Amino acid sequence: MTADHRRAAVLCGIGTWLPPRVVTNDDLAQQLDTSDEWIRSRTGIRERRVIDPGTSTSDLAVEAGARALKSAGGGNVDLVIVATTTPDHPCPSTAPEVASRLGLTGVPAFDLNAVCAGFVYSLATAVGHIVAGIASRVLVIGADTFTTVLNPHDRTTVAIFGDGAGAVVLRAGTADEPGALGPFDLGSDGTNAELLIVPAGGSRQRGSGQPLDPADVHFRMDGQPVFRNAVTRMSESAAKVLAQAGWRIEDVDRFACHQANARILTAVARTLEVPEERVVMNVDRVGNTVAASIPLVLADAAAAGDIVPGHRVLITSFGAGLGWGSTVITWPDIDLG
Ligand code: COA
Repeated sequence: MTADHRRAAVLCGIGTWLPPRVVTNDDLAQQLDTSDEWIRSRTGIRERRVIDPGTSTSDLAVEAGARALKSAGGGNVDLVIVATTTPDHPCPSTAPEVASRLGLTGVPAFDLNAVCAGFVYSLATAVGHIVAGIASRVLVIGADTFTTVLNPHDRTTVAIFGDGAGAVVLRAGTADEPGALGPFDLGSDGTNAELLIVPAGGSRQRGSGQPLDPADVHFRMDGQPVFRNAVTRMSESAAKVLAQAGWRIEDVDRFACHQANARILTAVARTLEVPEERVVMNVDRVGNTVAASIPLVLADAAAAGDIVPGHRVLITSFGAGLGWGSTVITWPDIDLG
């Protein structure tokens, strides 16, 4: 293989944080008309983590961010991106507070909202900053407390989502190093925005002036078309990024797909013809953690020895917007904490 000395962004640290409170399917069945059997068979989820009152997205982000920085050997970064759809406040963004609490006051910091595709979009944004020479070391955090926007009486959504955070540090390096990210495939489809939406609270339906319709303040989801779109979009996006990378499907050692639902993961893997044993999964333990999903499943699989240095990993995600994104990485030898 010829050396490729183009400037690239290289993964050099990873860290995660989950709130301590575990909510099992049986716990949900005590409040809602559902059952462990229904949730497990339709989604593969057994339990999820849920924040307690007083905890917010920034709290999870700071914990995950601190662990990623430690895994990267400490030192500063020159950009912080927080992928989230559940910021601490509608204004300001959450990233500056997260940066300050990590001792990074003065460093540029912003939120990126691309819902469940937010982490992959943020990776692409960080790569762009590094390759353009605007930054040389970037902390990318995916953090969401999506349980805070759910209707507690809606059994369909309460069963699926959980809270959590995951983070990585990217440094400037070269394209032929293990850990170099990319290429990327990103996409969106606003014509299907209504399929996954919190109708009120933004500029179209604000809290000031007219009172908000209580039916509109929570997340709504039209499950079946979401399922179909998730499978199609992630399969197409993953295939495109493989073609850009010049990888064949048999080159993929591990497939890290957005942990929306075990049936979605299996359907995407089957469409791509990735063998089941190469698909990494933690949706059974954490549910759908939105922007935290990809770093959480990567870190879990690496900690379990299921992803090892040298593995070629295909990453793909999909979420509300609609939005989707994929990338590839050869897993580096990093400190897992
Ligand atoms: N427990 C028991 N019953 C439930 C339930 C739950 N947690 N959630 C929904 N149901 C009910 C529905 O109310 C419906 O009842 P009805 O027939 O009396 O109206 C019935 O189950 C069937 O609903 P349906 O939507 O057809 O089920 P489904 O097989 O499509 O499964 C999902 C529902 C949500 C699991 C499935 O559509 C899905 O996984 N969609 C993708 C969701 C997702 O991943 N979103 C995030 C994308 S990033």
